[in-house]
Amino acid sequence: MTFQIIDGKETAARLREQIKETVSQLDPKPGLAVIIVGDHPASKTYVTGKENAAKDIGMHFEKIELPDTIQETELLKKIDELNSNEAIHGFIVQLPLPKHIDEKLVIESILPMKDADGFSPINLGNLMLNNNSIVSATPKGIIKLLEEYNIELEGRHAVIVGRSNIVGKPIALLLQQKHCTVTMCHSKTKDLKNITKDADILVAAVGKPNLITKDMVKKGAVVIDVGTSRLEDGTLTGDVDFENVKKVASHITPVPGGVGPMTITMLLENCLECYNLQR
Ligand code: GUN
Repeated sequence: MTFQIIDGKETAARLREQIKETVSQLDPKPGLAVIIVGDHPASKTYVTGKENAAKDIGMHFEKIELPDTIQETELLKKIDELNSNEAIHGFIVQLPLPKHIDEKLVIESILPMKDADGFSPINLGNLMLNNNSIVSATPKGIIKLLEEYNIELEGRHAVIVGRSNIVGKPIALLLQQKHCTVTMCHSKTKDLKNITKDADILVAAVGKPNLITKDMVKKGAVVIDVGTSRLEDGTLTGDVDFENVKKVASHITPVPGGVGPMTITMLLENCLECYNLQR
């Protein structure tokens, strides 16, 4: 069995060069906007990463910073402005939002063809129906990584741990489209190990450091770690006990440097898709 660490950083950089080349030939330039509410430290870091990436590939970028005291109606007004702003082809509202704002209502207010995150009910519904849709960046990035590393999917058992709307549910649909047999697990799943142990492809998207240990992984499994937790000393860690699980896996994504870099790249690709939809 050959063992490979899946290098998301290298793959993302390569794909970003291709997007940059495409953008260089476009006039007007595709425009991406990000709305950020409040000063959640992790959100600020993520948004800076998105801003740098968009500018680096030559996209037009706008950041709209709003105070966490903003009223929901004011935020919805900003979304409406972006919905009709011709220089902006795709935009996102960085999550989480302050508690007094209805996240669901906010997401539903984004025009589906400008929904660069692919979080709107229309895009998620189209994904379920196998129609063309804007697919949320993290699951899209996982599929790209599996393709780039020529990982066989058809007929294989994919086990997803985590059932979020952003990762767990869409990656389950995408893997099913690729003809995997998919099992979804979550916090109420009984005997998790018994299920993960049968996975050919194991996707962990929970946000609990070291949830997936070596004894839970089949020899030769492909392990995709979507977790991003900050330990007390500030280091970023995934859901998988990387050092031990890599002894049994055939492929594994590290944290950092695995799925994370792909997420921003897929956001840029989604913005380009939004641009094409509008032109
Ligand atoms: N917060 C954490 N990840 C994401 C993401 O991919 N999109 C948005 N909008 N907010 C997030």
